[in-house]
Amino acid sequence: MIEFKNVSKQYEGGFTAIHNLNFTIKENELLVLIGPSGCGKTTTMKMINRIIEPTNGEITINGESIKNKNPVELRRTIGYVIQQIGLMPHMTIRENVALVPKLKKWDESMYKDKIDELMKMVGLDPNEIGDRFPDELSGGQQQRIGVIRALAADPDIILMDEPFSALDPISREQLQEELVKLQQEIKKTIVFVTHDMDEALKIADRICIMKDGEIIQIDQPEKILRHPANEFVRQFIGEDRLQDSTILPEIEQLMVPPVTAYPSRGLAEALKIMRDKRVDNLLIVDKDKKFYGVVNIWNMRKAFGDEQLTLNDLIQKDIPTITPDENPEKALLLVNNSPYGFVPVLDHDDKVKGIINRSSIVKFVANHLNDSLGGI
Ligand SMILES: Nc1ncnc2c1ncn2[C@@H]1O[C@H](COP(=O)(O)OP(=O)(O)O)[C@@H](O)[C@H]1O
Ligand SMILES: [Mg+2]
Repeated sequence: MIEFKNVSKQYEGGFTAIHNLNFTIKENELLVLIGPSGCGKTTTMKMINRIIEPTNGEITINGESIKNKNPVELRRTIGYVIQQIGLMPHMTIRENVALVPKLKKWDESMYKDKIDELMKMVGLDPNEIGDRFPDELSGGQQQRIGVIRALAADPDIILMDEPFSALDPISREQLQEELVKLQQEIKKTIVFVTHDMDEALKIADRICIMKDGEIIQIDQPEKILRHPANEFVRQFIGEDRLQDSTILPEIEQLMVPPVTAYPSRGLAEALKIMRDKRVDNLLIVDKDKKFYGVVNIWNMRKAFGDEQLTLNDLIQKDIPTITPDENPEKALLLVNNSPYGFVPVLDHDDKVKGIINRSSIVKFVANHLNDSLGGI
């Protein structure tokens, strides 16, 4: 947990960039700092790793004031990703990712495998690019390396200052989605600066809206959309989005019941369920409905000849999932981008509540329109 207590920053020359900030960044949340250029986002962020020192007030991490820590050591425990990622041009990609573990004098065996694993997590093949140099990679690939370099030494906190701003829109969206996925796996405390509200809505657990060195509103995306604190926030969100968001349904309204099977089922049984229910995927669950993964009919077809196999042998676990309290916009995005074409909805104990797919979304929208047109 990071806490700002009455923090102000006055730059030399007398300009006060930050006015008496009081807020808390929770453990393992992704907090987005957003606001117009010059409102103090970067200053706020750089005070967390002591690149900038506050003029007044105190910042604590897990209750301890960072004033008492050695700044260099502090920075090695906090990952940092910026727009101009600054990979070392004369080092290979693997060497770049290993930079902080090396600085910390870790034994190579402690991070060697981890580095390749991190590359895979952001969709890069370590065998293909591990020994290349940064200028042999695209901008999007370099930025992915920047992100995982910040993760290599396993810091609890990661600071990201407009990390995707220099990318083309497609790479940018991909990286946003990868960050969301990555965060589901690694669960770090992430402070992410942007001036792009679409980006904030896509990735944030909470959004902190700043203006002229002060916090105007800090809350979950959904709350900010529904209850903007003032006219400034309303403008910042954009009127159109507000209109749209008022008809956005809750996750649970978009759900339909899943077709499930136990992992111990044989493939012939599974095929019969699929045929009867007319689905091409089964959600694999245990008796308590706890989610194991999915099995797809194409994989089943390939494996069908082997009578010994059960669904357990074919489970795929890489499918993104969502919880009922999340932003429905995220569900729409996931459904559109998932190779499976659907998203399982799980409660916080990983129990399956339903699924969202294109046809369940269409069904909701159609019903909704139908209702509002008086049922034609
Ligand atoms: N080193 C500095 N000296 C004087 N003023 C600065 C310095 N760095 C930033 N500022 C000013 O502080 C304000 C906040 O800057 P910054 O935190 O970089 O904003 P943001 O990241 O939100 O664009 C701006 O008005 C900027 O001009
Ligand atoms: Mg900035």
